[in-house]
Amino acid sequence: MKVKKCVFPVAGLGTRFLPVTKELAKEMLPLVNRPIISYGVEEALSSGCDEIVMITGRAKKSIEDYFDRSFELEELLKSRGKTELYEMMLKISNMADILFIRQREPLGLGHAVLCAEPVCKNEFFGVALPDDVFINKDAPILSQLIKVHEKLGGTVIALEEVAPEKVSRYGIVQTQFSIENGIYKISDMIEKPKNEEAPSNLAIMGRYVLSPSIFPILKEQKAGAGGEIQLTDALKTLADQEPVWGVVYKGRRFDCGTQTGWLSANIQLALNDPELRDVVLEVVKNETE
Ligand code: UTP
Repeated sequence: MKVKKCVFPVAGLGTRFLPVTKELAKEMLPLVNRPIISYGVEEALSSGCDEIVMITGRAKKSIEDYFDRSFELEELLKSRGKTELYEMMLKISNMADILFIRQREPLGLGHAVLCAEPVCKNEFFGVALPDDVFINKDAPILSQLIKVHEKLGGTVIALEEVAPEKVSRYGIVQTQFSIENGIYKISDMIEKPKNEEAPSNLAIMGRYVLSPSIFPILKEQKAGAGGEIQLTDALKTLADQEPVWGVVYKGRRFDCGTQTGWLSANIQLALNDPELRDVVLEVVKNETE
């Protein structure tokens, strides 16, 4: 069965962006010319998922409004002859069928994924953490995972090789064997290990294709690191029951979950934009002269 649904857990508190995130969804912060969340949704759609499920919480209403029609604005733009902008607004609201499910308390990423059970319980589904923005126009990252799922079955996790001094920031996998270049069978995983305790330098990144068998595991899952129900803990149990594959994705990742990561992503993407590149270079030149 094709992977048609993609779940976006967006109910986290975004404490690393406070005070901005006191009332504003971090997923709505701009990444050059559109909100961070838009990049993930575009990736899921171009990977073949046509049903988007967002797990939201308080202070996230702007995400719902962004993907909704805004009649007043549309009419105003139309009546003033701003056709291009009018069409841009229509394109956004027609982008995807989105279902919003509320996570009433931010009990952790694992719990947020569990909130998708009513709509995903009978099928494999994608999960995208919007903080991780991936760029690969030819082969969107989620599509790389779906391809492996279609070939091998089972759950698939995006992996990135990280420098040994950075393993303590991520969930790190232990691999059993490699089936082909960059595709590993995963036997275990550990959240944020010390450098000397890490079983590899392969870190889990924010894209998954998950088996519905994750739901009963998540229901039993006790709170782990940070007092939150962790998806990694549930995946560890899943790996004992069903195949879990890891794929070293091809493409570029921008970590927009921290202020420095978000700022650096904006600068890097602006440098890649022919219209903005000179603006950035000019500012840097003036400031450093
Ligand atoms: P993070 O812990 O990285 O992000 O969660 P956060 O909680 O939003 O931000 P900080 O750490 O306080 O700065 C990873 C993903 O899981 C979602 C977040 O929205 C993010 O996409 N999440 C986390 C939930 O949906 N619900 C939760 O209870 C926790």
